[in-house]
Order: sequence, then structure tokens, then C-alpha cells
Amino acid sequence: MLQIGKLSLEQPTVLAPMAGLTDRALRRLMDEIGGCGLLVSEMIAAEGLRRRNRRTMEMIADFKTRTPQFIQLFGADPEALAEAAAIVSAETAFAGIDLNMGCPVPKVVRSGAGAGLLQDLPRLAAVVAAVRRSTPLPLTVKVRLGFNKVNVLETTRIIAEQGADAVAVHFRLKSEGYTGNAHWELAAAVRDNLGIPLLGNGDIMTAAFALEKLQTVDGVLIGRGALANPFIFREIAGQTTSENDLGAYVRRLAALIEEHYPEKKRLGKLKAFTRFLVLSRPGSRSWKRRIFLSQDFGEARGFLEETFPCR
Ligand SMILES: Cc1cc2nc3c(=O)[nH]c(=O)nc-3n(C[C@H](O)[C@H](O)[C@H](O)COP(=O)(O)O)c2cc1C
Repeated sequence: MLQIGKLSLEQPTVLAPMAGLTDRALRRLMDEIGGCGLLVSEMIAAEGLRRRNRRTMEMIADFKTRTPQFIQLFGADPEALAEAAAIVSAETAFAGIDLNMGCPVPKVVRSGAGAGLLQDLPRLAAVVAAVRRSTPLPLTVKVRLGFNKVNVLETTRIIAEQGADAVAVHFRLKSEGYTGNAHWELAAAVRDNLGIPLLGNGDIMTAAFALEKLQTVDGVLIGRGALANPFIFREIAGQTTSENDLGAYVRRLAALIEEHYPEKKRLGKLKAFTRFLVLSRPGSRSWKRRIFLSQDFGEARGFLEETFPCR
């Protein structure tokens, strides 16, 4: 069992935050599938939350799940982040807060947020301290190995000192984007240096790889691998999946997209999810084409229903 502050996770596995993807629809679906220890939201702007921006409030609307959910906040201003964290604690059912210190998107970095914080350690410390003071909820921070050079031993030490309950490390530099392989060889050194749980992240595409990495870290975050194979968490937990499960998954995904999004956004969302799903599944290339060639959501949905009839 993995302990993050006062929260005990049933499994040491986490659905990694992914903008535009770990939305309410996908988190609901991953909760229904089961096997995952913790679900993390898309990154949410602290400023938007603090100002109660309508779109932001829609993105954070919560719902009952069996699996605990964290909200991921991003921003560069300690006070804005602290205020956003206080709102989350008082007004939502999120079980905890994760702070984004890894996003490499230029606009985010230029504002000093995301991976920008890895270059400004006094601000990084002030952010964690301010959020820690503002919320009793379990608090995690997600970093990369560094900006242009590795400083993960220093950043994770500061994060632990300022009161975070766990750290998640994507084992790449900001400057590496998503290229090359994640540098898992650094995991043991980071963990040895840290008094709080270490969650490792990067390139986990199979249950076997996750189980191997769980020998050196306390938990794993899985992003793209969970979109490619939505049953990966069940497999890690030793639960079986049947051959029919994938059809049920895509049909349910389409239904949840319909529930959560207006018509004009639905097809784009379905494509965004299936783009990753097709990576590893036999026969999936042909549906990808059908979905990508669909003119509207209704056509894609009809195709999925035909291909995967309810049994
Ligand atoms: C489309 C996409 C969106 C992402 N959005 C976020 C985000 O909002 N916050 C964050 O901390 N990381 C984000 N990430 C990074 C992932 O959480 C994760 O660190 C990265 O994909 C490596 O893990 P993986 O190999 O398991 O996918 C994103 C990644 C992708 C591919």
C-alpha cells in the first residue's frame, strides 16, 4: 500500500495528469475499469480557479469515484496557488492536490510556471510552502529531472522540506521534451535522498515494465501507456481482462464524451483519446482510420457501435 499524507492508496499506481486527456470523461472511465490507485486531473490554472473562471469551474466539477482523485494546479505565483488550493479543499471532493513543475510548453515556462519553476528554486520553495500552509489535503509535486541540467536531488529535497507528502519525477529534463528514453537509472539515487514517497514516471507501456520499476520507486505514474492500454492498471494489480473489454471501453468512452461535451467538441475528443489507444492493439489501425475519417461524432459513434456490439 502507498501512503500519501493521510491517504492510503490501494495500488501504487497513478494515472498521470495529461492536459486535454485526463478530463472528467477519462477519469470516470478509468475508475469504472478499476485497478488504478489514484487519478490526476488535467492541469488547471490556479489563476482561473482563483477568479472562478467559468471554464475552469466546469473542468473541476467533481463526481463520485471509488478511486481517489487529485487535482493538478499550475501557476507561478505562490499566493494564487495557495488560494486555489484553499478553494479546492473547501469546495470540492478532490482527495489531494498535485503541483505542476514539469510542463515544458513555452507559454507556461515563460510565465515562470511548470518546468520554469525548476530554474527558480526560491520560488519553487515558496510555492510549496504557501500551498502547504493553505491546505490540509495530501500534497504532491510533479517535477522533471531538471530544466537543462539535472537538479532533481536538490528540487526534491526542497519539496520534501517544504512539507509535500510525495514527489513524482518524470525522468527527463525539460529540454528533452518527450524524446529519448526516460532516465530511470537515476531513480534509486533520488529515492535514497528522499524522506517521502517517490513516484516514478516515463515510458511505462506494459505491466511488466511497471512491476520492474516498482522495485526502485514507491509508486508509478502512467500517462500514454494508460491511453494505449486502458487495462494496464488492472494488469499491474494482477486482475484479468477479457477480450471483449476493449470494445466496451471505446463504446463507453464515446458515451461519456457525449455526456460531458457539446456536439462541436465531441469528435475532436474521441480522436484525441483513440490516437493513443491505437498504438498497440491488433486491428486498431483500421478503426483509427474510420474515426479519423468521420465527418461528425454521430458517424464515429455509429461505427463503434457496429464494430463493438453490446453483448
Ligand atoms: C498529451 C499530454 C499532455 C500532458 N499534460 C500534462 C499535464 O497537464 N501536467 C503534467 O504534469 N504532465 C503532463 N503531461 C506529462 C505526463 O504526465 C507524463 O509526465 C509524460 O507523458 C511521461 O509519462 P508517460 O511516458 O507515462 O506518458 C502530458 C503528457 C502528454 C502526452
